[in-house]
Amino acid sequence: MATRDEILRELKLAPEWRLRSDATAGQDGPVETASARGASPASPSSRPIVAAEDPVARRERIAALDWDAFEADVASCTACGLCRSRNRAVPGVGDRRAEWLFVGEGPGAEEDAKGEPFVGQAGKLLDSMLAALGMGRDANVYIANVVKCRPPNNRTPEPAEAEACRPYLERQIALIRPKLIVALGKSAASLLLGSDATIASLRGRRHRYGETPLVVTYHPAYLLRSLPDKAKAWEDLVFARSMASSVASADPPVA
Ligand code: URA
Ligand code: SF4
Repeated sequence: MATRDEILRELKLAPEWRLRSDATAGQDGPVETASARGASPASPSSRPIVAAEDPVARRERIAALDWDAFEADVASCTACGLCRSRNRAVPGVGDRRAEWLFVGEGPGAEEDAKGEPFVGQAGKLLDSMLAALGMGRDANVYIANVVKCRPPNNRTPEPAEAEACRPYLERQIALIRPKLIVALGKSAASLLLGSDATIASLRGRRHRYGETPLVVTYHPAYLLRSLPDKAKAWEDLVFARSMASSVASADPPVA
């Protein structure tokens, strides 16, 4: 029978990371890596991952990454337990100079297989909503998620996982400098607004994330199950569009 190491190698998961030990496998927090322990060299394509990197230092380091370094960093991240079950990290997709940033929850099975956000059923709905606004995932839109790795069984990300991944979303916002952020569903609204309020109570109003205007609407996966709220989501996007044009005249983007 194959040993765990053989299976990890077969799945191309070694030597970047491996389970710490069976006793600690369920715990949150940074995952110790084989390379960080000096047990085996890092693969040529990835720099060694520092185990248990200080969160403040990590945040500062991520805040200075350019796009290429950002994507490489996400791909090799072990800062929360979701790294254990991902096939591919899903950093985000779209126009890096977009005026609109959509933030979902986390990759599902299809996203995890493809490395791209919103490629399943919910993604098709999002695409048709974007098309109705005259936009698309490469046309003035960037799409990201609260967590970049798939939560097992598509469960809601834990607050600690969302916090561990927050520096990446913050870096994306700083690099893109969107005119408007659209939080899709509860995970994004909770993380970005620090509020546990319902979508129903948050939608229809202008919020802010730092300096950036933010609107909240339903998650497309929820809309697939709740047709009556589709009309409300459409209202939210129309509201968002009117906000985006008012931002355009009051606050021109830096060249
Ligand atoms: N749901 C999300 O929140 N994000 C995805 O990328 C796919 C489905
Ligand atoms: Fe790192 Fe985010 Fe993936 Fe957790 S979800 S391992 S913090 S990239």
